[in-house]
Amino acid sequence: MSDNKFVKKIACIGAGYVGGPTMTVIANFCPDYQVTVLDISQERIDQWNSNELPIFEPGLKERVLKARGQNLFFSTDIDRCIDEADIIFVAVNTPTKTFGEGAGKAVDLQYIEQTARRIKENSKSDKIIVEKSTIPVRAAETLGKILHSGNNSIHFEILSNPEFMAEGTGIHDMENPDRILIGSMDTPSGQAARDELIKIYERWVTPENLITTNLWSSELSKLVSNAFLAQRISSINSISGLCEVTEADVDEVARAVGKDSRIGPKFLRAGVGFGGSCFRKDILNLVYLCEHFGLQPVADFWGQVIIMNDYQMERFVQRMLKAMFNSVVDKKIALFGFAFKPDTGDTRDSPAIYISKMLLKERARLCITDPHALKNAQKDLEGVEGEIVYEPDPYKAAEGAHAIALMTEWDQYKTLDYKRIFESMEKPAFLFDGRNHLDHQALFDLGFNVHSIGKPDRIQFDDPS
Ligand code: NAD
Ligand code: UGA
Repeated sequence: MSDNKFVKKIACIGAGYVGGPTMTVIANFCPDYQVTVLDISQERIDQWNSNELPIFEPGLKERVLKARGQNLFFSTDIDRCIDEADIIFVAVNTPTKTFGEGAGKAVDLQYIEQTARRIKENSKSDKIIVEKSTIPVRAAETLGKILHSGNNSIHFEILSNPEFMAEGTGIHDMENPDRILIGSMDTPSGQAARDELIKIYERWVTPENLITTNLWSSELSKLVSNAFLAQRISSINSISGLCEVTEADVDEVARAVGKDSRIGPKFLRAGVGFGGSCFRKDILNLVYLCEHFGLQPVADFWGQVIIMNDYQMERFVQRMLKAMFNSVVDKKIALFGFAFKPDTGDTRDSPAIYISKMLLKERARLCITDPHALKNAQKDLEGVEGEIVYEPDPYKAAEGAHAIALMTEWDQYKTLDYKRIFESMEKPAFLFDGRNHLDHQALFDLGFNVHSIGKPDRIQFDDPS
């Protein structure tokens, strides 16, 4: 297949948050491989080929510019690139199903199936197919059936190679992964395909961090990893409620608990709840799988992680209402941050969406500020009834507001001039820190009523203004 210039040709179907960055990293480390990232969206591909990349991720742009046009290409010419590729990564979206059987829980596999059919129709030689998307355990079996249906001459070897990067640190995570997981069939062709993929990753990943398993363990490990991470967040968030009524401090509890090396300190930051495109969807998928296999108590156990996350967001709004004299009608509330986490413009399943909707139902007036996510925020809240202003400048967003609700722990929010902000706000001025990100004592000293997660409220008895 490959021409002389390149050792191998890689195609990646899906030019999103995973496909774009993962292929950029591979292209950077493997200049002798041709890497083409493909998508059905012409707009997305045009953005990848422009100076305004479709996603914001620290370090991404430099790396794209380094390889683009050399060995990294972005294209909509899917059929030709499938035909020419030796290895095809599948990184299309796998959202939660919104219709029919399993709606609200099961994965909608239509994009995976469309991709498989397109690969089958356009392949004239054997290929390695790599599942990069997060999919239900045993999805490779379905993929195999579609790829091999009515076709005896071409062999597709399916590997599972789930992606563990987190947004905002995606490039760092991919360049320094805790592990690269490769699942394959335990057959000579499965092992040969696995070795081909190892050849790529071993350019920058040490052998101890290259883990190989059977296909099903690899598929399931991805869902379980996300479930365990989300479960830790829900665990500490559940304790934050208890801290608020007992004068314990959730950050101190998390530090004390996390010092136990069997527990560890990471992912114990209490907050307004987890967001992002995957935790909710992947846990729902796990719950659905457990129900499908008749393991109801297991399904209920994992379902509780989501129930706790929803409760945390509701509880935050309830606390806002209670603190602001049980009404926010016509009060201006400045939302600091809308992205589901800092260093990304991604707002998918961001707690800010739910909290905005709840506040608008209470007839608050919202002014949303975020350094990278305002466009997405606008799309998320399109058609929602109520007054919403989008304002890039946090000082302007806070002007005349009754309250600030911090939703995303952007670094720049730490160093704002809160004295100036306080002076421009209505009094009493409330600050609800949904990420325990700011210096609460300093804000209290300036005159704010400060409410945070899992900590006692700091309420002014005499309004100093
Ligand atoms: P995304 O929505 O950003 O990108 C998916 C892309 O696939 C879109 O651009 C879409 O147009 C394209 N696409 C859909 N069907 C197609 C088809 N038939 N042919 C060509 N292109 C098609 O999604 P994402 O965030 O990159 O996630 C992709 C997968 O990776 C999901 O399964 C997700 O669970 C998983 N994952 C995501 C992350 C993350 O941080 N976003 C991390 C790990 C794993
Ligand atoms: C998560 C996982 O961390 C990745 O390993 C995985 O590859 C990815 O999902 C995926 O499959 O999509 P991501 O959602 O990008 O990555 O970001 P995280 O850093 O995990 O944060 C998710 C949410 O949890 C954010 O809203 C964040 O604010 C919240 N969080 C995180 C907390 O509330 N507390 C914490 O201690 C950590």
